[in-house]
Amino acid sequence: MRCCIRGCVIELRDFAPSDVPSLISWIDGPEALVMWSGSSGFVWPLDESQIRRYADKVGPKLRVWTAVDKTDPDRPIAHASLMVDAPGWSARLGRVVVAPDARGRGIGETLVRAAQRVAFDEIGVHRLSLGVFAQNVTAVRLYERLGFVREGTLREVAAVGGTWWSSFEMAILDHEWRTRPGT
Ligand SMILES: CC(C)(COP(=O)(O)OP(=O)(O)OC[C@H]1O[C@@H](n2cnc3c(N)ncnc32)[C@H](O)[C@@H]1OP(=O)(O)O)[C@@H](O)C(=O)NCCC(=O)NCCS
Repeated sequence: MRCCIRGCVIELRDFAPSDVPSLISWIDGPEALVMWSGSSGFVWPLDESQIRRYADKVGPKLRVWTAVDKTDPDRPIAHASLMVDAPGWSARLGRVVVAPDARGRGIGETLVRAAQRVAFDEIGVHRLSLGVFAQNVTAVRLYERLGFVREGTLREVAAVGGTWWSSFEMAILDHEWRTRPGT
């Protein structure tokens, strides 16, 4: 699948074993691990066996993607996954990360737009949700820009380095997505 927004062209493809080292290199500490994966079971230090266990679950209920730049298709630049909770009802976007040296160029936006398209057009869910830590302002702004609505706060849901982190629950519904400009 190819997506182009503001001149940034990326292609989403299925995650491959050869993408493991790139993904590991982007998660550069215990805080980054929690920011990326929340409480989904990954532990620091992230290693190949944890990623293989996650990628092995790919099937009708889990899509795991690598994004590449069309000008350099061998170099992964982002990662995301989509968990289908109930076909026709809801899916959850997760594990969104852009390679640190590729951030601030619209790749995150392009990636999330592509995931919205798969969720609503291909899988046909009614609702796409996600969780994001409250202090992750870049990610919160990105999701708001793409129509996700803040539905609630999970207060002090994760303890990281002696500090409690709160997270926002966000979601967008299919009719909201379809009526957005540029969808
Ligand atoms: C959150 C994350 C995915 C965003 O990815 P990204 O590729 O940097 O996202 P974008 O480039 O689309 O947007 C980021 C910023 O760059 C700006 N931007 C995008 N294209 C731009 C361009 N061509 N020129 C200048 N600025 C640009 C956006 O407006 C945005 O600005 P803002 O933070 O002031 O709102 C990335 O920071 C990341 O991987 N973080 C670590 C993991 C993480 O937190 N994941 C989210 C878990 S919920």
